[in-house]
Amino acid sequence: MNEEKDTYTLEDLAPGSTALADISPPARLSVFGDPVAHSLSPQLHNPALKALSIDSRYIRVQVAERDFPKALALIQEKGFLGTNCTIPLKFAALGACDHVDDLALKLGVVNTISLEDGKIFGSNSDGPGFLRAVREAFAIDAHDLRIMILGAGGGAGRAVTVQCALEAPERLVLVNRTREKAESLRAEIAPMLEDEAIHSASSRVKVAEWSDAGLEAELGNIDLIVNATSLGMKRSDPALIQPHLLQPHHLVYDMVYSPQRTKLIADAQNNGARTANGLSMLLHQGAISFETWFNREAPLETMRNALQAALGAGDGPLI
Ligand SMILES: NC(=O)c1ccc[n+]([C@@H]2O[C@H](COP(=O)([O-])OP(=O)(O)OC[C@H]3O[C@@H](n4cnc5c(N)ncnc54)[C@H](OP(=O)(O)O)[C@@H]3O)[C@@H](O)[C@H]2O)c1
Repeated sequence: MNEEKDTYTLEDLAPGSTALADISPPARLSVFGDPVAHSLSPQLHNPALKALSIDSRYIRVQVAERDFPKALALIQEKGFLGTNCTIPLKFAALGACDHVDDLALKLGVVNTISLEDGKIFGSNSDGPGFLRAVREAFAIDAHDLRIMILGAGGGAGRAVTVQCALEAPERLVLVNRTREKAESLRAEIAPMLEDEAIHSASSRVKVAEWSDAGLEAELGNIDLIVNATSLGMKRSDPALIQPHLLQPHHLVYDMVYSPQRTKLIADAQNNGARTANGLSMLLHQGAISFETWFNREAPLETMRNALQAALGAGDGPLI
């Protein structure tokens, strides 16, 4: 009998392999990524599957970008229901689908794949998961906010920026280390904000310079600050925003969740701002993927408790 592995490989999916043979309930869902060993998705989904008596197990599979089409074909052959895709496969996933839903097409990335009747369907739960997380954390909709997105150029930053634009917020300020990426994203979303009669798109969406002076000029007119960069994961990372620029009226959403209290969150809290970390987005994007696969409401509190348990939340609620 094979022991269940933490992370499977492409070879484990191959026709002659018995690696998945003894998993009970049978492996029917997965997360593909490279790296993927850090992914908390199995801890999020398996308790939900169990709670609803769904006879399927969710596994991690290490898949390099060049092997992605092959890995998809192999899980199709094995009768999988679908897979999540994480770094660096979200762009490749868009191209690998037979059908991509409208939202994922607009966001430009797929993180949820459903396999049905020999066809591959793509959708995106990161964008809607972010909106649910913000609503839950701050009890306000993106539509009513002036939003600054730091990292509006990376994969997650792009998805969150387009998702926010679709909500027609009062203001959207894009900031990215490589300014050209934010400029091209601005050009792409400006037409989405032009329908609203009140303001022209040019006054509602702009790119700001990533400098202390550039940020200071904008932050007085911003409610929600989103960190969609990878800065904050390491102790040695520089401050994203000088602490004195963070004010009590700010809402700060840091998409980083490891560590749970980043420098940005600590600085914001010290200045009286309200904050949330990326765990809630992780939770909600997982719940939305679950709803896509099973066409039923996900057991959100089961998933939330499972995530807290996986993170060893000994000292009170994290999410
Ligand atoms: N909570 C969740 O559920 C969730 C979901 C998805 C992602 N995330 C988090 O979101 C973050 C971004 O992920 P991603 O997939 O979008 O990564 P990505 O595609 O590699 O993008 C990284 C972004 O960070 C910026 N960046 C990197 N190093 C920087 C530095 N030294 N100074 C300034 N900017 C820097 C990049 O700017 P350039 O364009 O200039 O390179 C880019 O905008 C990660 O921390 C990830 O864990 C969280």
